[in-house]
Amino acid sequence: MSTESDLLDRVIQAGTASDAEMSGLLKDAGLEAVVRVLVDEVLFRCDEPVNAIPVDIALDITHETERRRVVFRIVRDRPMEIVGSEESVIRRELRMDVKDLLRRLFGHADHRRTGDFYDSFLPTRPDDLSELPAILAATNLASGTLLSGCTVRDVDLGALSVAYGSDKWASFHWYTAHYQSQFAAYRNQPVRLLEIGIGGFDGELGGSSLKMWKKYFHRGEIFGLDLFDKSALNQPRLTALVGDQGNAETLVAIAREHGPFDIVIDDGSHENEHVRVSFEALFPYVRSGGLYVIEDLQTSYFPRFGGTAGAEAGPDTSVGLLKRLLDDLHHQEQEPKSGEQPTVTQDGVVGVRVFRNIAFIEKGVNGEDGIPGWMDDEAWVALGAIPPTTD
Ligand SMILES: C[S@@+](CC[C@H](N)C(=O)[O-])C[C@H]1O[C@@H](n2cnc3c(N)ncnc32)[C@H](O)[C@@H]1O
Repeated sequence: MSTESDLLDRVIQAGTASDAEMSGLLKDAGLEAVVRVLVDEVLFRCDEPVNAIPVDIALDITHETERRRVVFRIVRDRPMEIVGSEESVIRRELRMDVKDLLRRLFGHADHRRTGDFYDSFLPTRPDDLSELPAILAATNLASGTLLSGCTVRDVDLGALSVAYGSDKWASFHWYTAHYQSQFAAYRNQPVRLLEIGIGGFDGELGGSSLKMWKKYFHRGEIFGLDLFDKSALNQPRLTALVGDQGNAETLVAIAREHGPFDIVIDDGSHENEHVRVSFEALFPYVRSGGLYVIEDLQTSYFPRFGGTAGAEAGPDTSVGLLKRLLDDLHHQEQEPKSGEQPTVTQDGVVGVRVFRNIAFIEKGVNGEDGIPGWMDDEAWVALGAIPPTTD
């Protein structure tokens, strides 16, 4: 396999693949490499540990006659870590076939959550039995934490947004309820998502929404774009790119390298000109069936962002762009017919859903023919759709 990212792509695809295709991946990449990807993912997905005393849990990942043991050290207020077997006192051993772990992590969200692993609980007697109640309680909590990382769970995007510190919910904005309903159909897909605007002020790195998308799209590859270098955020399935959303060439180069995308979200400068430039550059690189999202439409009315003062947003604003897209959506209906080749947006916009301050533009094939231009009154009368004139 040529690169880590090729391996990651194949592992994600394998989550819903046949047994034979999974075997093919394991043959090509080897159990060790696949386990590395899976363990990174488990570490990312796990809830915060809550047990007060440290607990080591071994996860044995098997494939045919091979076995890889990974020992997780779990304790409150510390990130979960992998430790060597020799320096640990194992409180629980779990054994799972690598294909079951693959399905759990990168399969469908409704994949079963039990009945696919062996469990050996407190395999050795504690030296001091007076510690048994505390060890038992901590082991139960730690096991719950580890298992939280081995599944796809229902996600409330609002709660996730607040937990990661994004302003997409319960802040100036109330966007995640819309995201939750508009993104539901994509959740189980191996989506490629690009968000313009990574966030992070006063020296903070940001990345709140990127982490939220990574958690929500459990099979997704998430890309963020920002004026500032935030590559310290990079991790499997999350890549921070640098560039100016006002520069169409930069955007096209990024799309050629990392696209096409299933979802693009513009949460960058919110300058009206930037929103337009980004849409024009990136919409052609959204896959058919994908979505282009524009946040913070309110700047259409803010002159300091290039918006129009007053009640009617002008044609160069984000809202102006959306109004034009409504015309493009209906280009087949316009009379007289222009006879020209449809533009990218006339041909590719199949839906525009606008909520307060946020728009979801759906890409597809806007190919249904309109009513033929020759349908004059005589033809409508012939169809019986309108009454004949009497004079
Ligand atoms: C509102 S924050 C993004 C918040 C983030 N999406 C979240 O929900 O957590 C806007 C980000 O856009 C970035 N930005 C501003 N102008 C930009 C431009 N011209 N090109 C790319 N990014 C830009 C800023 O640096 C900032 O990090």
